[in-house]
Amino acid sequence: MVSREITPGIFWVGAIDWDRRLFDELIPLPNGTSYNAYLIKGSEKTALIDTVDPTKEYELISNLVRLRVERIDYVIVNHAEQDHSGSLPMILEFYPDAVIVTNEKCRDLLVGLLHLPPERFRVIGDRETLSLGDRTLEFLMTPWTHWPETQLTFLQEERILFPCDLFGSHIATSDLFMNDERAIYIPAKRYYAEIMMPFRTSIRGYLEKVRALDAAMIAPSHGPVYRDPAFILDAYADWTSDAVKNEVVIPYISMHGSTLKMVEYLTDALLARGITVKPFNLSKTDVGELAMALVDAATVVIATPTVLFGPHPQVVYATYLANLLKPKFRFASVIGSYGWGGKAADTLVKMLDHVKAEVLEPVIVRGLPDETAMRGLDRLAEDIFKKHKEINIV
Ligand code: FEO
Repeated sequence: MVSREITPGIFWVGAIDWDRRLFDELIPLPNGTSYNAYLIKGSEKTALIDTVDPTKEYELISNLVRLRVERIDYVIVNHAEQDHSGSLPMILEFYPDAVIVTNEKCRDLLVGLLHLPPERFRVIGDRETLSLGDRTLEFLMTPWTHWPETQLTFLQEERILFPCDLFGSHIATSDLFMNDERAIYIPAKRYYAEIMMPFRTSIRGYLEKVRALDAAMIAPSHGPVYRDPAFILDAYADWTSDAVKNEVVIPYISMHGSTLKMVEYLTDALLARGITVKPFNLSKTDVGELAMALVDAATVVIATPTVLFGPHPQVVYATYLANLLKPKFRFASVIGSYGWGGKAADTLVKMLDHVKAEVLEPVIVRGLPDETAMRGLDRLAEDIFKKHKEINIV
């Protein structure tokens, strides 16, 4: 992919990973991704903002060579994770005068992770500026917009914000700019759910700081550049708010059909009460779809059969992930079946210790659900309906 000019003197010089289908060996990437790096030419100095995943470092170097960039004075590092920092060793070798500009925490991480020489760093603090001559970079410290060292860089004259991961989307596209809101909303939401949701409260706190910049563009390090920042800022305001929707997410596994029958019955009982239901068969769904549903839902009902003495391992995996993502759902319950015993419900409820949800009485039955089981599911549907009503979402 060739470099492209965002605005005179400012270039996208990153790489598009069309084929990548898994991130961190965990997160499905149905649409690939990109690693965006940006070159800013000032009248006196040249800065590179972030680098690319090391698997694509040759593309970054080719872009710089084709632009005839003979000298880079500063490499701004907004985040130490290797999909943005992994090409730093090559850049430092290729441009021996380049100085890495970042905060102290990020410097320490980069020295530890990539064994970069400390003397190649210049440490900056919150709201500090760096002159490139006719252009000025301002740095905003925003820890926990993924990692503890994350920061944003703002180009004052053109009012372009470079937030690295924040506001990004995992999508490989030849569109440099976001041109179609409908096409980017889902990848951006999926990215928020998978990467940013655990930091919801911190991010919400930074949104006003970002809005106050009145950025003309937001240029993240994954996905397209926003020429209408309000689109992504409004979406983040919604996703990070405490507001939940009249929705129930049901992640489930069924081995012999009993749990599935319960899921189907509960789904109908909730639909009949005007509640949106999103069931996810964990043997088929990808965790990104589930994570996205967890952004808005008021309630999660986990449905599991019993394997030996506890929940099905795939349900344990999904519950563990959901707990890590810290979604904002308010109510939780467990339904499922067993053969000869077990404590599936207790085990799953204890796993949700990062989520501040009220637990509604589980419905656990032996074997095929009978009339008593159905009455239990009707009671659970009614409990959920009443709780949703109490918080004014029905
Ligand atoms: Fe795109 Fe936290 O790395």
